[in-house]
Amino acid sequence: MKGLILSGGAGTRLRPITHTSAKQLVPIANKPILFYGIEAMAKAGIKEIGIIIGETGKEIRAAVGDGSQFGVKVTYIPQDAPLGLAHCVLIAHDFLGDEDFVMYLGDNMLEQGLTSFVDDFKNARAAGGPKAPTAQILLCHVENPKQFGVAEVDKDGHVVRLVEKPENPPSDLALVGVYLFDKTINEAVRSIKPSPRGELEITDAIQWLVDEKKVVHHQVLQGWWIDTGKKDPLLECNRLVLEVLEPRNDGEVDSASQIEGRVVIEKGAVIKGSRIRGPVVIGSGSVVDHSYIGPYTSLGRNCKVEHSEMEHSVVLDGSSIIGIARLTDSLIGRDVAVTRSEQKPRALRLMLGDDSKVELE
Ligand code: DAU
Repeated sequence: MKGLILSGGAGTRLRPITHTSAKQLVPIANKPILFYGIEAMAKAGIKEIGIIIGETGKEIRAAVGDGSQFGVKVTYIPQDAPLGLAHCVLIAHDFLGDEDFVMYLGDNMLEQGLTSFVDDFKNARAAGGPKAPTAQILLCHVENPKQFGVAEVDKDGHVVRLVEKPENPPSDLALVGVYLFDKTINEAVRSIKPSPRGELEITDAIQWLVDEKKVVHHQVLQGWWIDTGKKDPLLECNRLVLEVLEPRNDGEVDSASQIEGRVVIEKGAVIKGSRIRGPVVIGSGSVVDHSYIGPYTSLGRNCKVEHSEMEHSVVLDGSSIIGIARLTDSLIGRDVAVTRSEQKPRALRLMLGDDSKVELE
């Protein structure tokens, strides 16, 4: 079985961070979101992974390389424009051939991992006969089904209808971004037409399988699942991952500092006269000086926090936070400076990128 990870697309909902970098490389607990997906595939025994890349392909290639750091072989499949999830299957055909594969959306994170999901499909296919599935989808009960692909399952447990981002959702079961397919999907993606939003939808391709009376299995997800494409779900995901991190201290903590709870201090990080209350991760080379870093914060590499208090935030590499009384619920990009100025007249002095969002108290 092969793997296909979708890491193209535009990432409009995470701007301005995604003006300059791929949304799949935004870190959760200081590790790119995409790496969790690759690791989950490797753990499920998948050795060959195709990665769909778009405009941010160069950065993704630089981060993932040939896949050897994960024990897999990666093939990059460039997509000229984000023409839809089913379009990704279409252009991956040379890589996939006629093999079964697991398709994974590069901005999704799930607690459960992929192993049992992949094994169930393999076993059901190996059993053969008319009941062998051509596809297997993963569903999750959500409060806001309009934002997802939604499945309708009949009383006998059969998937009967799938709709993408419906105005009137037929159920609260969202399609999670993990799908298993056999080669029949290649015919399905060639048979469907673009949706009103101009994309070849994988949801429509699976509906085609249902209409053709192919067997489509489904499972309802245990544990959490997050589509990390927006700030608040991303912070929530960071919270959930930090919650289970193994604490360790590979940095330097002076005697005037207090470290409480689940805290990871990476190599070369320095904590002086500060209080860190976990779950927190402090990236290598970062300096925290006379500050408080509270629960659910990921501080990237080579950051500087001085005379500040912050919590429930994700800060990317190279940023500094200086003299800020209370920072919370924030996502801060790379090499950003948030500082307090003594300059008169007292005022806010901002230089913000396109699509930035600032909430003042
Ligand atoms: O997160 C689950 C949802 O993902 C499902 O419930 C929906 O049925 C499914 O259509 C999808 O919806 P999104 O609107 O969230 O998909 P998004 O455009 O964010 O793309 C998902 C991933 O695939 C993301 O990592 C970017 C990548 N992608 C997307 C498109 C449209 C590509 O690589 N190429 C593309 O053409």
